[in-house]
Amino acid sequence: MWDEALALRPHAISLSFGAPEVYIEKAKMAGIQVLYQAQTVELARRAARAGADAIVAQGTEAGGHTGSISTFSLVPTVVDAVHPVPVIAAGGIADGRGVAAAFMLGAEGVWMGTRFVAAAEALADAKAKQRIVDAQADDTVLDHVFDIVQGLAWPEEFAGRTIRNAFTDRWHQHEGELGRAVTEARAAVDAAQAAGDFNIAPVWAGEASGLIHDIRPAGEIVREIFEEAEAILRRRPQIVL
Ligand SMILES: Cc1cc2nc3c(=O)[nH]c(=O)nc-3n(C[C@H](O)[C@H](O)[C@H](O)COP(=O)(O)O)c2cc1C
Repeated sequence: MWDEALALRPHAISLSFGAPEVYIEKAKMAGIQVLYQAQTVELARRAARAGADAIVAQGTEAGGHTGSISTFSLVPTVVDAVHPVPVIAAGGIADGRGVAAAFMLGAEGVWMGTRFVAAAEALADAKAKQRIVDAQADDTVLDHVFDIVQGLAWPEEFAGRTIRNAFTDRWHQHEGELGRAVTEARAAVDAAQAAGDFNIAPVWAGEASGLIHDIRPAGEIVREIFEEAEAILRRRPQIVL
């Protein structure tokens, strides 16, 4: 799949999880820039050494698959570890406060997922978007239940974060049992997916769901977040210092 993606000659390509060296080397030989998303300091170091053009430091708050270190700790540690390679902060950022904080931690930019799932243009089901709007920060779970259902062998250290629902309430921390009941569970999730029933089907989303209160066009979201970040970065130092 990597070779096929490179053959399309993108300006830049994003890579996450697992051994970075061989993928980065191929992309660099093709003259394509690589953004490597790392969940640990060691993976960030290896990717920087292999020639990644930027490291996305992804904290555990993130929606979808992620590691176990929080954004607030991971970003500055990665900034120190890969200097002078630029670092982009990911995980738990959905408003101007998060963007301002990311810059203070030494990041050169931010990488947001959950906020844009709840954007007007996103292809996600409207009911899934509404689940994000309705969720609080503590309404997500990080586990392997939907990987087991889908038969995907994700490494233990990379679990997936979704909005808690009846399915995760039943199976979270009962993964062994789920493995034994996987045929029926898969049928239930497939049927729920087809019916748009997100009390069973997954909504991949992060803890930043608690900061998201509406579904709006992506352009508006970006403008508002960066206006808020700029205002904070101008005013806060005068109050704090
Ligand atoms: C619905 C969804 C799907 C995602 N799919 C992928 C993916 O296929 N590959 C990947 O590297 N990261 C994926 N991510 C993680 C994002 O790249 C990013 O790290 C994350 O969304 C940032 O945290 P946030 O969700 O708090 O903004 C996904 C995130 C979400 C919300």
